[in-house]
Amino acid sequence: MRPVLLLVLPVLLLVLLGLVGGQQQALMDYLERRLQAIEERISLWHEQTTRYASELREAKQALVLQLEGLEKSKEVQRGELDGLGTRVSRVEREMDFLETQKEAQPCVDVDEKLVEQQVTVAKEKTKLKYAKLSGCKDMLESVKGMKILKRFGDSEGVWGRDMSLGAGRVYIFNGSSDDTLYQFPSLRDFTSSSGTTLGTPIRLPGQWRGMGHVVYRSHAYLLEEGAEPRLLKVSLPGGALADSSVLPLVELLPPYTLTPDTLLDLAVDEEGLWAIYATRTDPRHVALAKMDADTLAVSHTWSTPCARENAEAAFVVCGTLYVVYNTRLPGRSRVQCVYDVGELLAADEAPLTYFPRRQGAHSSLKYSPHEKLLYAWGQGYQILYKLTMRSKLDI
Ligand SMILES: *[C@@H]1O[C@H](CO)[C@@H](O)[C@H](O)[C@H]1NC(C)=O
Repeated sequence: MRPVLLLVLPVLLLVLLGLVGGQQQALMDYLERRLQAIEERISLWHEQTTRYASELREAKQALVLQLEGLEKSKEVQRGELDGLGTRVSRVEREMDFLETQKEAQPCVDVDEKLVEQQVTVAKEKTKLKYAKLSGCKDMLESVKGMKILKRFGDSEGVWGRDMSLGAGRVYIFNGSSDDTLYQFPSLRDFTSSSGTTLGTPIRLPGQWRGMGHVVYRSHAYLLEEGAEPRLLKVSLPGGALADSSVLPLVELLPPYTLTPDTLLDLAVDEEGLWAIYATRTDPRHVALAKMDADTLAVSHTWSTPCARENAEAAFVVCGTLYVVYNTRLPGRSRVQCVYDVGELLAADEAPLTYFPRRQGAHSSLKYSPHEKLLYAWGQGYQILYKLTMRSKLDI
C-alpha cells in the first residue's frame, strides 16, 4: 500500500497546484479587466469635470457681464428719476404759486336771489343777536405745512387735543362708530405707541356715529343719533355724562356729501363751540350754528351759500366757516367756500386755498385755535396741517 501512496500523492499535489495556478491566472485576468474599466471610467469623469468647470467659468463670466450692464442701466434710470423728481416738484411749486394767484371761484351755482335773501336774513339776524366774543380778525391765508404723524386704526376717525388748550393729552376717536375713545398723555406717546398700548381707554356713556365730535374745556362733545339726536357732554378723563340736550335743529342732513356718516360736525375756534350741519329746509347748503358750550343751547344759526355737494369737511376760524371740497375719487382737498358770520369777509374775497401735496380724502379736520393747526384724519393717517393767517381787515 505505501509505495502506491507515495506515487499517487505527488501526482495529486501537482494536479491540485495546477488547478490553483489556473484559477489564480483567471482571477488576475479578471481583476486586470475591472481595473482597466475603472480607469477608463475615471478618465471619462475627469474629462467631464474639466468640461463642466470650463462651462461654469464661462457662465460666470457671462453673468458678471450682465450684472455690469444692469448696474449701468440702473444708474441711468436713477438719473432719469432724479430729473423727473425735480421736474415734478417744480411743477408743484408752480401750481402752488398759481393757486395763490388765482381768484376764488364762486362756490355755488344757486339762484342768486335765494342766496341774497339768505344773506340779508343772516345779516339782519347777526345785527340783532350775534355779538362776537373775541376781537379775532384772522382769516386763513394758506395751508402751509403738512406732517403725517402716524397710521392708526380705521380709515375714518377723529383725533386732536382739548381744543381750549392746544396742548397736553391727545384724544383718539377711531372709526365712524364706537363708544370708546383713547387718551394718550402726549403727542409723543401717541406716535410711539404700538397700537393703543400707551393709551387709556375711556368708555363714553353713548355711541358716536360719524366724525362730528370734539374735545373742549375738559369735555368731549358728541352727537348721539336716534329719533331725536342728542348732544352729549362727557367729562374727561372720567367719562361721566355731564349734560345732554335734544337739539332744536330738526330734520338734519349730513352737511358733507363726501363724508355722509357725519350728521353734525362740531368745531372749536377762538370764539367757542360751533355746529356745522344741514337740514331738509335747505338741502343743498351747509348751515352753521353757534353753540353755548356750558348749556348746550344753540345761540344763533346761519344759512350759508356753501354747497353740501362734494364737501368732505369744514372748520371755523375766527367766526368764519371754511368748507373743504374734494372729489369722489379723492384728489387734492381745497377750501372753496367761505362764510364769515361777522361779514368782514365776503365769500368771493376769500382765496381758493389748496391743501399741500397730498392726494386723498379727509374724514375729519379739527382746528386747534391756540396752535393754528388742523388735526386731520385722512384714510387711516393722522396728519397735522399748519395754517398761516392774515388779517381780514387787509383785504
Ligand atoms: C379701529 O376701529 C376699527 C373698526 O372701526 C377696528 O377694526 C380696529 O381694530 C380699531 N383699531 C384700534 C387700534 O383700535
